[in-house]
Amino acid sequence: VTTRPPADVGMPLAEIDTPALVVDLDAYEQNLDRMAASLAGTPVRLRGHAKTHKSPVVALHQIARGAVGACCQKVSEAEAMVYGGVRNVLVSNELVGARKIARLVALARQADVAVCVDDPGNVRDLDAAARAFGVRLPVLVEIDVGNVRCGVAPGEPAVTLARHVEAQPGLRFAGLQAYYGRAQHINEVDKRRAAIEGCIADVRQTIDLLKRQGLACETVSGAGTGSYRWEAASGVFTEVQAGSYCFMDVEYGLVEGFPREFTQSLFVLATVMSRPAPERAVVDAGLKALSVDKGMPRVHGLPDVEYQRASDEHGILHVGDAGRGLRLGDQVWLVPGHCDPTINLYDWYVAVRGGRVEALWPITARGAVL
Ligand SMILES: Cc1ncc(COP(=O)(O)O)c(C=O)c1O
Repeated sequence: VTTRPPADVGMPLAEIDTPALVVDLDAYEQNLDRMAASLAGTPVRLRGHAKTHKSPVVALHQIARGAVGACCQKVSEAEAMVYGGVRNVLVSNELVGARKIARLVALARQADVAVCVDDPGNVRDLDAAARAFGVRLPVLVEIDVGNVRCGVAPGEPAVTLARHVEAQPGLRFAGLQAYYGRAQHINEVDKRRAAIEGCIADVRQTIDLLKRQGLACETVSGAGTGSYRWEAASGVFTEVQAGSYCFMDVEYGLVEGFPREFTQSLFVLATVMSRPAPERAVVDAGLKALSVDKGMPRVHGLPDVEYQRASDEHGILHVGDAGRGLRLGDQVWLVPGHCDPTINLYDWYVAVRGGRVEALWPITARGAVL
């Protein structure tokens, strides 16, 4: 169930109802092309993360440019991708609980679906469900390469779990998942690189140990927007899972070095709804229209105007001297502080080019948290 879109195709920008999630199509396509170009001619494929975009439309654009499929964090996200036409999905996460596991293995009858594990009991549950549905499920062992989230330790613990996976008739050991998300936002490029080099060393050592046990790593998946080039050049990763690169946000805009090749393509379009004082304007996009977990949005193109605070339905702007012309009804373009949770607040992307609405894309995995 989706709400009515805030715009119609062909409409000029001034008529878009707000708050609206707007994609600048030229910038977006340039980002997609740049990622595709940086992996072209290498054995590494993109598996763009649907946790960011939440829409099979975006996944299919990535696949049309060479991506192997999509990454998802949730089984409901994976369903949205498969129902939207994506044929190859990795759940880059652990799925626990009979209901989720049944949905996963049932989905594996309709498309190529794989999942990550870090626990032997979970492996047994996946195996039982896979056999009940008559599928042989590819499974990646997740290793903790510094993220301090899920995953077993690299080396022997990973090998032990991989052997356990391979011993289950309903499962197939397909490789490793090694994602170092905390490294993505290390601002200094040298420190970020050093963190990822440690991750690559852990992966390499684990692959060698697996090989000695006769276990081949067909897939090694990981990496995000802030580090993908290093994983892609490592010779050990086969896939990169970058998500934010297609849209970008304030948080990534602060990171040194690459990912500067990507430009901001995602905006929340808001309208000035109150102008109670010369130094204050209030827009109609607050917490329910923007995620502020990584900081406030940036006001695009108005350097003297600052988004200071958000309440549920209001965004409070501080207006400096140069911004005093801002009037009731004016549209304001906001760069989200953090793109993923902001996108999850909307049912539609309003895709614009040349001053008018060119497309409306449903965000069918919006709110897919199961
Ligand atoms: C497992 C995994 N892979 C890939 C990504 C994508 O990262 P980014 O949006 O920084 O490219 C994330 C983001 O949190 C993630 O959790």
